[in-house]
Amino acid sequence: MNWLITGGCGFVGSNLADHLLEAGHEVAVLDNLSRYGSSNNLEWLRSRHSGFGYFGEDVRNAAAVARVVKELQPDAVAHLAGQVAATTSLENPRLDFEINAGGTFNVLDAVRLGRPEAIVLYSSTNKVYGSLEYLRSELSGKRYVLPDYPAGLDESVAVDPTTPYGCSKAAADQYVKDYFRMYGIRTVVFRHSSMYGGRQFATFDQGWVGWFCQQALRMRDAGAAPFTIAGDGMQVRDLLHSRDLIRCYTQAVRHIDRAAGEVFNIGGGWENSLSLLELFAHLEASVGVRMRFEKTPWRIADQKVFIAGCGKAKDIIQWSPEVSYRDGLEQAIEWAGQAG
Ligand SMILES: NC(=O)c1ccc[n+]([C@@H]2O[C@H](COP(=O)([O-])OP(=O)(O)OC[C@H]3O[C@@H](n4cnc5c(N)ncnc54)[C@H](O)[C@@H]3O)[C@@H](O)[C@H]2O)c1
Repeated sequence: MNWLITGGCGFVGSNLADHLLEAGHEVAVLDNLSRYGSSNNLEWLRSRHSGFGYFGEDVRNAAAVARVVKELQPDAVAHLAGQVAATTSLENPRLDFEINAGGTFNVLDAVRLGRPEAIVLYSSTNKVYGSLEYLRSELSGKRYVLPDYPAGLDESVAVDPTTPYGCSKAAADQYVKDYFRMYGIRTVVFRHSSMYGGRQFATFDQGWVGWFCQQALRMRDAGAAPFTIAGDGMQVRDLLHSRDLIRCYTQAVRHIDRAAGEVFNIGGGWENSLSLLELFAHLEASVGVRMRFEKTPWRIADQKVFIAGCGKAKDIIQWSPEVSYRDGLEQAIEWAGQAG
């Protein structure tokens, strides 16, 4: 197949591009390299593959996106380019809106006008569900739990975003879904929770698993200052490794007849869920350090628990997470050593 990956030099995009190129597909990536680490990922892709296209364009530029889609005539577009941090969106909501909502609109409309046969896969987020404050939560050991949702949260949860990031991704998510209903474009929305793995250049604001792996390695240095966490550390996410993520995208294409127009919650599920404190305990044992940290106030609208219920994905695209957090973290720690 002929793939176009927007944000193809980011964490998810470079892993997906590498996998597809290895599998013999034609791939072009569109990325303005605005993210820290993306130039590095582009060089990494170039060092491993010679035959892929690179477009140094900005998804905010509708004419440029339309030109690329028309020229390439892709069979599938993975739209991953985005402003990815809720914190940044609070500082500059217009930029966030223009990239996430406007950029997604540009990609969709470029497909509608230039290549309506293409499949469009969109990486949305669990943040479209907002803070979920209204859900009953309890403390259990070192984590919060949602007693009314033992199998995780499915797609019937109301879309009720908080933060500009949540709003811009939710607007994009709804456009992607509706372009199937209105124009018949075969679109699929994935609402991801926390993803991690190699090629992720984690920062304090984004990519928390990678960030804390880096902190664990930093704790080995004598005299390293404690790091900070927001909240009490008992908030829970289900971790999805990039290998599982790639399989999710390829499975959606394989099952596009049933997946088109659908929305899926995608995460590591209950078995791969960890609170920050549980992650720290794991890192302490793996790296052989003591995680020293200080607590700061909760981040605005932070969810106490998000664990994706992946039953719909299992049913429709025959996908479930397979990489255990233990295996995945081993690789993430190794990567943090190279990236950090
Ligand atoms: N990583 C996660 O845990 C996570 C969770 C939920 C949703 N998502 C979504 O998945 C997608 C990919 O995430 P990621 O972790 O790979 O992020 P990333 O920041 O590593 O990659 C995004 C890429 O998009 C590029 N980009 C940003 N603005 C652009 C623009 N205006 N024009 C062109 N390129 C631009 C960046 O340079 C970067 O290479 C994002 O849309 C994100 O919102 C990620």
